[in-house]
Amino acid sequence: MAEVLLQRKFQVRGLDFDKAGDTSAEVKAILTDVGLDPDVVLRAGVISFEAEMNVVMYAVRATLILTLTEEALSIVVDDEGPGIPDIEMAMQEGYSTASDEMREMGFGYGMGLPNIKKNSDEFVLESQIGRGTRLCSMIELDSR
Ligand SMILES: Nc1ncnc2c1ncn2[C@@H]1O[C@H](COP(=O)(O)OP(=O)(O)O)[C@@H](O)[C@H]1O
Ligand SMILES: [Mg+2]
Repeated sequence: MAEVLLQRKFQVRGLDFDKAGDTSAEVKAILTDVGLDPDVVLRAGVISFEAEMNVVMYAVRATLILTLTEEALSIVVDDEGPGIPDIEMAMQEGYSTASDEMREMGFGYGMGLPNIKKNSDEFVLESQIGRGTRLCSMIELDSR
């Protein structure tokens, strides 16, 4: 097992549009601070922002755990919420169940999950209806 260099846990609240984006901003700041490659920070920013927005829009609450080792950066978001009935459909580009109100705020393009996957080297999405959703994303780091 690779040694953990940094681990941080954040709470994200559903429907809290005022604080939406705060967690991913903090994630980016922390990763910039420790001197990670800007490309990795950018990818982690997309992953954490899109996952955070999905919690804000669709779930009740979640924890986001950021873990950095020499080899990889992992972002795990575990939420309590309605779950995702059809993960394959949710992963399709353009698929969204966002409300008109959310669309008016500029969300709901249905690109969040596809973009999380694109920016991840490993990606796992699991869900239990009526319980919640767990998203695991990993970015490999080149160890020199
Ligand atoms: N954490 C979640 N809990 C419940 N449903 C979710 C969650 N994340 C995503 N979804 C579902 O998957 C769909 C696609 O998500 P995404 O690709 O991020 O697009 P968008 O957020 O623009 O709708 C959402 O519209 C929603 O129906
Ligand atoms: Mg989304």
